[in-house]
Amino acid sequence: MAMASVSPQNSVPKVVFLLFCMFLVFLSTHVSAQSSPVFACDVVSNPSLASLGFCNTSIGINDRVVDLVKRLTLQEKIVFLVNSAGNVSRLGIPKYEWWSEALHGVSYVGPGTHFSDDVAGATSFPQVILTAASFNTSLFEAIGKVYYTQVVSTEARAMYNVGLAGLTFWSPNINIFRDPRWGRGQETPGEDPLLSSKYGSCYVKGLQQRDDGDPDKLKVAACCKHYTAYDLDNWKGSDRYHFNAVVVTKQDMDDTFQPPFKSCVIDGNVASVMCSYNQVNGKPTCADPDLLSGVIRGEWNLNGYQWGCCRYIVTDCDSLDVFYKSQNYTKTPEEAAAAAILAGNSLVTGVDLNCGSFLGQHTEAAVKGGLVNEHAIDIAVSNNFATLMRLGFFDGDPSKQLYGKLGPKDVCTAENQELAREAARQGIVLLKNTAGSLPLSPTAIKNLAVIGPNANVTKTMIGNYEGGTPCKYTTPLQGLAASVATTYLPGCSNVACSTAQVDDAKKLAAAADATVLVMGADLSIEAESRDRVDVLLPGQQQLLITAVANVSCGPVILVIMSGGGMDVSFARTNDKITSILWVGYPGEAGGAAIADIIFGYYNPSTHQPGRLPMTWYPQSYVDKVPMTNMNMRPDPSNGYPGRTYRFYTGETVYSFGDGLSYSQFTHELIQAPQLVYVPLEESHVCHSSECQSVVASEQTCQNS
Ligand SMILES: *[C@@H]1O[C@H](CO)[C@@H](O)[C@H](O)[C@H]1NC(C)=O
Ligand SMILES: *[C@@H]1O[C@H](CO)[C@@H](O)[C@H](O)[C@H]1NC(C)=O
Ligand SMILES: *[C@@H]1O[C@H](CO)[C@@H](O)[C@H](O)[C@H]1NC(C)=O
Ligand SMILES: *[C@@H]1O[C@H](CO)[C@@H](O)[C@H](O)[C@H]1NC(C)=O
Ligand SMILES: *[C@@H]1O[C@H](CO)[C@@H](O)[C@H](O)[C@H]1NC(C)=O
Ligand SMILES: *[C@@H]1O[C@H](CO)[C@@H](O)[C@H](O)[C@H]1NC(C)=O
Repeated sequence: MAMASVSPQNSVPKVVFLLFCMFLVFLSTHVSAQSSPVFACDVVSNPSLASLGFCNTSIGINDRVVDLVKRLTLQEKIVFLVNSAGNVSRLGIPKYEWWSEALHGVSYVGPGTHFSDDVAGATSFPQVILTAASFNTSLFEAIGKVYYTQVVSTEARAMYNVGLAGLTFWSPNINIFRDPRWGRGQETPGEDPLLSSKYGSCYVKGLQQRDDGDPDKLKVAACCKHYTAYDLDNWKGSDRYHFNAVVVTKQDMDDTFQPPFKSCVIDGNVASVMCSYNQVNGKPTCADPDLLSGVIRGEWNLNGYQWGCCRYIVTDCDSLDVFYKSQNYTKTPEEAAAAAILAGNSLVTGVDLNCGSFLGQHTEAAVKGGLVNEHAIDIAVSNNFATLMRLGFFDGDPSKQLYGKLGPKDVCTAENQELAREAARQGIVLLKNTAGSLPLSPTAIKNLAVIGPNANVTKTMIGNYEGGTPCKYTTPLQGLAASVATTYLPGCSNVACSTAQVDDAKKLAAAADATVLVMGADLSIEAESRDRVDVLLPGQQQLLITAVANVSCGPVILVIMSGGGMDVSFARTNDKITSILWVGYPGEAGGAAIADIIFGYYNPSTHQPGRLPMTWYPQSYVDKVPMTNMNMRPDPSNGYPGRTYRFYTGETVYSFGDGLSYSQFTHELIQAPQLVYVPLEESHVCHSSECQSVVASEQTCQNS
């Protein structure tokens, strides 16, 4: 509250006040903040460590891990099965916190990361759903120098070097955005398995790949989550802790839910996968040998030798307690611990690491009770240690290593922040644009009315799994006011908009040359543990928009800030509303990016970016379809319409891939071959004989 009333352009005393407030916040929550990184094998302070095999960097990682594990007692091993790992002082191993997050910039979610006076914020990129809307793999892939994932990993390393972050980041979230109501859909790359696969593997590469190209080592470790068929948080009495995703068909599994994870493991070479809370077809994912050792480690070869050893599987926080206590999947906690670790076979484990304390509490008794043998614990901790070794954690002083020189100066650089603005520009989708509406002329507009509960927001723009305080915010109002004179009214006290200030808003709009309405949602509407029950604009937003549009003389631009799609049919068909933009949660520079589009400094969707990565359904769809129905495909026998652009053929408000540009495009065929040859499959009836044919339906292939 205090922070929101202080403007960044303010006088010195207020800035000092702001810093003071932040100082108090950090004093109370992060007393242990330190300024140097945690690492093992500090041979400078403790020369005796140099003779230990696991500290010897000229030995291969597998052998170092074997050396380390054989030195540990069972109790010492068990402290490395949980996210807040313990120390083994006699071997120079300090405490390590595994849980850091970097969904769209280094985040303060997770106890491994803190912000301090040295690093007060990190670059906060748009929420993933908007970056994905760019459909631009070179924005998130390892091509050239400018891609945002590399900025995230550089800032992460820089923060590790001053003791403010870990090296293991539990991002990205690549679950399919199956249902428009899902509160966490905003964290994902949308509903398309191909786009999600590309986004996931690119994100992982950007986080993990080192500049020296060494595939055995990691810049920071990524984690693809939440495995699998997880996309329900809390809907009409069903919640993620109890939800049994049933029935997930084999076909939906193979062509919808699994492909992003497969790509993450195979193409991205991810260091880690996180299993989810929910059950799939009656089994908790964190205790399912088929899903864990069978698919991830077996079919996808998570531990493949090609890329070095030993990736780890981590539970969601605290999945084991959940399947023991809330799902009653096992009778005793020891059985639950054993079920997770043993969701493998004699050679590989299921779960290696537990976010939470469950394995710390119950593993010893499980071993003593003969439910799991110590060898399995050895395998689990080996996977964890190997990951830390690949990160250089056991290589002594990080300042002597690659990335050791990164520090606070490398966080929130002007270049990084410009990329956050660019990512938002590339993602923003122009959904409607009547002739003469956008772009607005910054010279012709003398008075722009800026209305709406999201018109001057800061934190709303970064969605969830955000950075603590981003480097800097540019709100939509600030972005627009940089080019033209504005008048401003929130119109409602918050996005829930229980009562709109309709008369005041109408006055403002009637006196303006053009009106921008910034509406939509925020984390009070859609978030982790918060699914929506409808897809309409909340409260009286529609009333406010319609009333304002009715009295406006110039263009009326409706800006929807949201993670999920909205039924804005009323606006699509209202001639008074001349343009509609969807801006996702556009990140710290969102307001600047919105202004870039509105004034035509950036032309949306010029090449290929700026298209919806998910279907916008009408309200009638969610009235008809229970969120709990996992089927992707329609079922004509009961009128079930199916999900996503791949299967749903009913009415949409806007469709997957929709997005306009200020340019007019024409398409023509420049050249085409006269004959097309289609090679026959081996199994084709004509393959080895003389006949030359393809199997094709008669209608489409006639006369060709
Ligand atoms: C807009 O928001 C900024 C940042 O919170 C704040 O400093 C400024 O006073 C607000 N402007 C108006 C007109 O309320
Ligand atoms: C590290 O291992 C190499 C290879 O086995 C060995 O030659 C060297 O002596 C070891 N270093 C130390 C300090 O023990
Ligand atoms: C962990 O560190 C603390 C404080 O330095 C020490 O008292 C404790 O004995 C250590 N624990 C182990 C298992 O080494
Ligand atoms: C994709 O993003 C990169 C990095 O910002 C940019 O250079 C490139 O122009 C973008 N591609 C398209 C087609 O806009
Ligand atoms: C689990 O067991 C508890 C206590 O026996 C019971 O209250 C609860 O309903 C059970 N939950 C499920 C999902 O069966
Ligand atoms: C629009 O304005 C006209 C008068 O200009 C009024 O009759 C009508 O009720 C208004 N509609 C809405 C939805 O406010």
